[in-house]
Amino acid sequence: MATATSTTTTTNLGILISGRGSNMEAILAAVKAGRIPSARPRIVISNKADAAGLKTAERYGVPTKVVLPEGAKGWDYDKKLVAALEGAGVTPQDGLVCLAGFMRIISPEFVRHFKLRVLNIHPALLPSFPGLHAQRQAVEYGVKVSGCTVHFVDEGVDSGPVILQRTVPVEDNDTEETLAARILEQEHKAYPEAVRLFSEGRLRVEGRKVFIRSSS
Ligand code: GAR
Repeated sequence: MATATSTTTTTNLGILISGRGSNMEAILAAVKAGRIPSARPRIVISNKADAAGLKTAERYGVPTKVVLPEGAKGWDYDKKLVAALEGAGVTPQDGLVCLAGFMRIISPEFVRHFKLRVLNIHPALLPSFPGLHAQRQAVEYGVKVSGCTVHFVDEGVDSGPVILQRTVPVEDNDTEETLAARILEQEHKAYPEAVRLFSEGRLRVEGRKVFIRSSS
């Protein structure tokens, strides 16, 4: 059965981070520059108190919140995320949750709560190299091309329907770090673009496939 994503006029964004937050910043900068007119950043949430991205979000004037696990796992932790998101206006009706270097696995309950309203960016061309250290996996495997993937989050790990991918060459002398830097430049283009497409109601999901409606 076909499922259409947001067609409301405003999409309320909640961005989840754990560290640097450069993808978060790419999204916030795109909104600020007027490149995603139908999205409103409502909150940035970190599971770590010292995440550098929190200060960046403050510079953009976006409310921030630290939600520490304090031993809570799975849905027990994710319920706290839902409360923080919904308290900021990011709801299953008009919200979009962007995982941006959020280094926790989201529970199936969270995914079902925000059905087809959770996006993730991964630094590899999925389904290759899921999980941790994707760029190191690519260098060690010896692939000639890698890149990044923005996808809907489903109940698996890095396994949801693919929205956009951007490629980069892998050079003979690449290290994990040099490849990561090359991929990151593309991440910063792909993620804001995917958020824009979602917020304009232009993504249609059928099974594993995401179809992008043209803007005409
Ligand atoms: C990014 O490269 C992102 O793709 C990756 O973490 C980095 C976060 O950087 N995410 C994953 O590996 C998720 N499996 P950022 O905090 O500067 O956006």
